[in-house]
Amino acid sequence: MKIIIYGTVYGSSKRYAEILSKKYNMEMKSFNEIKDINIYDEIIYIGSLYAGGVLGMKKTLNKIKDLTNKKIIIATCGVADPLDAENIEAIRNNMKKQLKEEIFNIAKIYHIRGAIDYTKLSGKHKFMMKLLYKKCIKIPEEERTPDMRGLIETYDKQVDFISEDYIKELEKEV
Ligand SMILES: Cc1cc2nc3c(=O)[nH]c(=O)nc-3n(C[C@H](O)[C@H](O)[C@H](O)COP(=O)(O)O)c2cc1C
Repeated sequence: MKIIIYGTVYGSSKRYAEILSKKYNMEMKSFNEIKDINIYDEIIYIGSLYAGGVLGMKKTLNKIKDLTNKKIIIATCGVADPLDAENIEAIRNNMKKQLKEEIFNIAKIYHIRGAIDYTKLSGKHKFMMKLLYKKCIKIPEEERTPDMRGLIETYDKQVDFISEDYIKELEKEV
């Protein structure tokens, strides 16, 4: 059985899941609606990045017991440039820490770009971003990491990078 699972707070990952679900006629669910992950043999997990973590991924995918004949595709969704090699490396290093080694090794991993609207952020998230922003702007430009650059570029704005172009490569796996 095939499924698209998404981990979202503000809807970006869900929007990507909806595009794929409609196009390939696949069932989609939020990670917190998944009762038994082991009934699926093909899983597309689209999870948004929050402070380097992929929302819901660890909790959901690490429950897979038997990887025989499983196909696992993971897409991370964040505001930092998903085509930047340094960003990709940082995201993957974090994913390695979140996922069981055998799952990380078989997963096909992609990186896509989401959206952020500061007028809709929760008080907690606004506060976190403010602290991070203040920290980031003190760091000399050439020393900033891609996620710091992403945060500075989008800080206090409404930006929407969601585009089917980002999922073209992933679609070859579906
Ligand atoms: C508190 C917070 C932390 C974030 N951390 C990251 C991050 O580490 N890397 C990144 O690329 N984007 C980060 N973002 C941006 C979100 O990943 C981006 O807005 C994403 O599209 C949100 O997905 P959602 O709408 O599915 O919740 C962060 C946003 C917030 C509010």
